[in-house]
Order: sequence, then C-alpha cells, then structure tokens
Amino acid sequence: MNFKKELATVLFELLRKEISLTELELMIEKPKIASRGDLAFPCFTLAKLKRKSPNLIALELGEKIQSPTFEKIEVVGAYLNIFLNKKEVSEKIVGEIIKKKSLFGSQELEGGGNVTIDMSSPNIAKPFSMGHLRSTVIGNALAFIVEKCGYEPIKINHLGDWGTQFGKLITAYKLWGDAEKVKQNPIKELLALYIKFHEVAQMDPSLEDQGRSWFKKLEDGDVEALQLWQWFRDESLKEFSRIYDLMNVQFDSYAGEAFYNDKMDRVVKLLEEKQLLIESDQAQVVELTDEQLPPCLIKKSDGATLYATRDLAAALYRKENYKFVKSLYVVGHEQSLHFKQLIAVLKKMGYTWAEKMVHVPFGMMLKDGKKMSTRKGKVVLLEEVLTESIAMARHNIEEKNPNLANKDGVAKQVGVGAVIFHDLKNNRMNDIDFSLEEMLRFEGETGPYVQYTFARACSILRKGNWQTDVPPAAYLAAWEKEWKVTSLLMEFPNAIKRACENLDPSQVAKYVVDLAQAFNKYYAEVKVLEENEEQSARLALVYSVTVVLKEGLRLLGIEAPEEM
Ligand code: ARG
Repeated sequence: MNFKKELATVLFELLRKEISLTELELMIEKPKIASRGDLAFPCFTLAKLKRKSPNLIALELGEKIQSPTFEKIEVVGAYLNIFLNKKEVSEKIVGEIIKKKSLFGSQELEGGGNVTIDMSSPNIAKPFSMGHLRSTVIGNALAFIVEKCGYEPIKINHLGDWGTQFGKLITAYKLWGDAEKVKQNPIKELLALYIKFHEVAQMDPSLEDQGRSWFKKLEDGDVEALQLWQWFRDESLKEFSRIYDLMNVQFDSYAGEAFYNDKMDRVVKLLEEKQLLIESDQAQVVELTDEQLPPCLIKKSDGATLYATRDLAAALYRKENYKFVKSLYVVGHEQSLHFKQLIAVLKKMGYTWAEKMVHVPFGMMLKDGKKMSTRKGKVVLLEEVLTESIAMARHNIEEKNPNLANKDGVAKQVGVGAVIFHDLKNNRMNDIDFSLEEMLRFEGETGPYVQYTFARACSILRKGNWQTDVPPAAYLAAWEKEWKVTSLLMEFPNAIKRACENLDPSQVAKYVVDLAQAFNKYYAEVKVLEENEEQSARLALVYSVTVVLKEGLRLLGIEAPEEM
C-alpha cells in the first residue's frame, strides 16, 4: 500500500500526464507536523510548466482531487495538505498485514540478483574483536534486509588466515609451543606465542628471517607448515563458532585469505598483461596517482603476496562465481583507503563491475570514551560479553517474571538481542559506547524494550483469544486513537527500503522503537480488551503490531520471545 503513489496517480491524471509519475511521486512530502496532514504536495515547480502562480495551481488542484482515500485537502499557499481517510486506510493496512503476515514489507528493488556480503572476517589465532562483532551484526542485518528487498544475500566470512604473521606464529610455536596448552585455550595461547615472538625478535632480529622463511614454506605448500597452520585454523574456528552459535549467525562461505593462495598468480599475470605493475623499492606495485591514492602493494621484494593481492583475487572470484549485482564489504572505517585502492585497481584493469563494490564502513566501539583494545590488560572478550549479557538478562527475568517457562532460552534471546540492538540503533558510522547496563534496560531505545513490547502485545492477544485465521468481524468506527499506530505500520516498507538503499540497519531499529512507543501509548489510553463490537478490530491492530515488530526484529537478527 503506497499512498504516495496513489496520490501521484491522481495528480498525474489531473495534470494531463505532463509530468511523469515518478517525478510526481518524488515531489510528494510527508509533513513533520501531524496537523498539516499526512501528505503534502508543493506546487512551486509546476509554475513554469503551467504558466500560472503556484498558489493558483494549488487551489485548482485542491478542488479537483476526489478519492475515497484522500478525505480532506487543505490548500495553504502553494501547498496541498492532504489528509488520508483514517478508516479507509487503516482497514486496508491492517487487512493487508493480516493477509501477508511476515511477508508484509517484502519488496523487489531494482530486480534483485546476488549480493555478496563480506562480513565478520576475524583473524585466526587472534581474539574476536569488537570491530569483528560490529561487522558480524551489521552484515547479518544487511543480509536479512537485502533479502527482504528481493536480493539473494551471500554471506562470506573472509577469514584472516594467511599472511606473514603465520610464519611468525609457526616459528614461535616451534620454539616455545605446547600442544596441550594450545588445545585447551587455543586463541589465548597462540596470541601469547605471537606476542612473545615480537618481544624476542626485538633482541634477536634473526627471528624475523625465520618467520619469513616459514611463511615462504607455507606458501610453497610445505607439509609441516601446512599441518600446523591447519591446526591453528581449526582450533580458532572452533572458538569463533561458539560466538556465531550464540548470536545465531550462519555463513554461506568461509573462504578466507588462504583460499586465494593459488588464485593470485593469475591476478599478478593479469596486472602484468595490462602493464599496470611497476617496480618500486624492489616491490611490485600499481600506481594510483591519477586517483590521488598511494600505490597499491601487490608483491613484496621476497615475492610474498599481500592483503590487497588476496582481496583482488577474491573480488574476481566472487564476480565469476556469484555474478553479484552488488558486493558489500562490512569492514571498519580504518580500512577505507584499502578499499578505495582495491576498487581503483580493478577499474584500472578494466572491470566496470568494480563500481558495484561498496565498502560499508562503521565506527568504533568505545568503553568510557576510549577504544576497546584487545591488547594489554584491556582485553574484552566477546564471548564473555555475550555470556555476561545473557546472565544479566536471566537475573532480570528472575526478578520480574520468576514463573516464566524456558527462562534460559528467553535469557539468551534477550541478552544477545540487547547487544545486537545496541549496535544497530545508531547510524553505523557513529562510534558507540559499550555499556551492558544501558543495553539491557527495559525502557528507552533498547532491544529488550522492543522485545518486551512484543511479548506484551502477544499476551493481550492470548487474553483476547485472538484467532488469526478469522478476519475481524467488525472494524472500528473511526480509527482516530489508532491512527498513530496504523500510520506507522504503513511506514514499515519505507523504513526497509531506506535501510536497503543506505545500507543502514538503524533505519529499521529506529522504526521498531517508534512503533513500540506508539503502541505502548495507545495501550495506555485505550482499553483494548474491553468487550464490545470493536474488540476484534482492536485485536486485529494489536496482531498487526506483533507481526511488524517481530519481522522488524528478525531483519536485525534479533529473536522475539512471546513471553518474557
Ligand atoms: N581480517 C580483516 C581484519 O580483521 C578484515 C577482512 C575484511 N575483508 C576483506 N575482504 N578485506 O582486519
């Protein structure tokens, strides 16, 4: 249901099709103040075409618009303020939601196609950082959102499982490693070995040579090197999987950097053929001076490849295998330069599809205004954060609703949902301050607040014995008090569209908070369960709210318990 389109169609006819439908639709505004109507149409740009004053055009149009949907038209200067027929529109929207259920809001943007989403992508043998958490949560929500808009998301975990650091790690392990310790606590042990390598290498530079030579062996397929690498990778992935399981995130591919090891020669050859590779300080680089970017490093003096080389191979691979219409990289803004270079090199190679690659950057996670570091004493391990959040949610339940069934399951949904929502409610470029107390509050703009509103609405439906398969017997007389809620329900498809176009899940997060607030206000004012002829219509509205809240949360990667 798109009332802008409906209005545009009416205007299109009245203006004798002299302005295109899309143009008209774009001209229609949504007044910020409710008393100015539900839609507004400014006539300024029509003056030239019609050779009349905009005010006169507004007057003439205002008299001619006739439609059951548009109940009242006010002409204010050059503006048409249009009031929707609340009853007509509300019944339509509630009817549509009851019919479509969770499919409400689904749409086809630009004809769909595959969208690859490079997301999460932590580094093997290192702790899963807050940056990787943000990438996971934002990428996961974007996957649901693009899917809702008719695309096919392909979630790729581009693991950091290759590079000179693995030569160093193997060196350190061979010198000081203990297999049992690594098995018990892989990431902690491997990190400690890596740190020790750097400490000792400061005094004994020969260690660096050993590291380089182990990485060379690894790249050349040496059996011992590969076995150790594989083991580090498997153990690390086991730890990461626990986090993904907690958060209910799945991937379509775990093809990380190592996957491209045998696909980089081709990239180098292509660059040579296109005469883009030049020698600089014994390394091979692509000059990007025309683009005002520093050169992109392709091969080091010892022949070793780099992060960028692997990303070039990955881009080619993804284009060829997934035939993407869009390729997203959900990676912190510190890597903006890297992605600018990557896209610039591909364009130089003549690949016009590089235009479809988008770096989706995000801000930092701060604690008390400072960056959360994984080094030194400031380690904040994500798994601990999640388990603590779940424990706090469990505690809240024990206080508020001790008789709840499945307390553990609900605590997990709420605890994890709180962390995810806290991340997604702000524009992704903002830095966010990390605070468990804040995330888990039941009031304000939090995940638990929205979940709680959903659960409350579910309980109203249970009390009212609401049956979805029976359409509401009598609709309301006026839909006045319901209007704030119904007009928000109407907005859901637009919020999804904005989130998809701007690759910004906060559009959906803000939307569900608005809807939850409007619903709670309505519930405080109106006796929803009062038994009279309007009850079933009110319950139909409550049901519509549950459908949209649940679907909105799902798009963010958050579950909605029916009781909490
Ligand atoms: N592993 C990298 C890091 O932790 C992120 C990888 C992002 N994806 C990519 N295709 N470069 O910084």
